[in-house]
Amino acid sequence: MRVRLEETTDWPSLYTIYAAAFGQLAEADLVRRMQDDEDLILSVTAYTDEPAGHIAYSRLCLHETPSIKACVLAPLAVCPLFQKQGIAAALVRHSLMRLTEDGYDLVVVLGEPHYYGRFGFDPKLAEKLKTPYDGPYLQALALSDHGKGAHGPVSYARAFAELN
Ligand SMILES: CC(C)(COP(=O)(O)OP(=O)(O)OC[C@H]1O[C@@H](n2cnc3c(N)ncnc32)[C@H](O)[C@@H]1OP(=O)(O)O)[C@@H](O)C(=O)NCCC(=O)NCCS
Repeated sequence: MRVRLEETTDWPSLYTIYAAAFGQLAEADLVRRMQDDEDLILSVTAYTDEPAGHIAYSRLCLHETPSIKACVLAPLAVCPLFQKQGIAAALVRHSLMRLTEDGYDLVVVLGEPHYYGRFGFDPKLAEKLKTPYDGPYLQALALSDHGKGAHGPVSYARAFAELN
């Protein structure tokens, strides 16, 4: 299994993966909308002979601490046939490394703390933010010391508001 930046030719397979993983296409459509709106900042595919998983990140605006470079991890999916083999973990680790290299300070995710905690995501850090998704599933990871100072209201990419 290898991990690389998403390529346009991945898309037929990515739609199949999202449909199989989530039982719907809303998440794949979310990625396409973010891409159309130029809100997508990183899109990575894991593949064996063909794409097996995908992860996307979009820009996040922090109104009270705008110098903090922040983004949102969503969505993440692995084809059911290939789950529980560490593919999602490889996607998360690879993409976090890229974001760090690109100077990002903070990543926010809405998901299972049991899963995302293993990468260092922490609900406590997210508690200082004011988002449409506040609660125990909202977690944040500081990629730099500057990121630890994040607080206050945020704006997600507008495609999130259109999610069903
Ligand atoms: C969540 C998902 C991406 C994990 O992919 P994966 O390649 O199987 O993940 P890994 O092999 O790296 O890790 C497997 C772990 O994920 C856990 N896991 C699987 N589905 C999960 C879910 N929906 N929520 C939380 N944890 C989940 C497994 O229990 C396993 O945990 P363990 O290591 O403690 O045993 C994959 O199951 C998936 O696509 N699910 C449907 C879509 C989804 O829920 N995406 C995440 C949205 S936040």
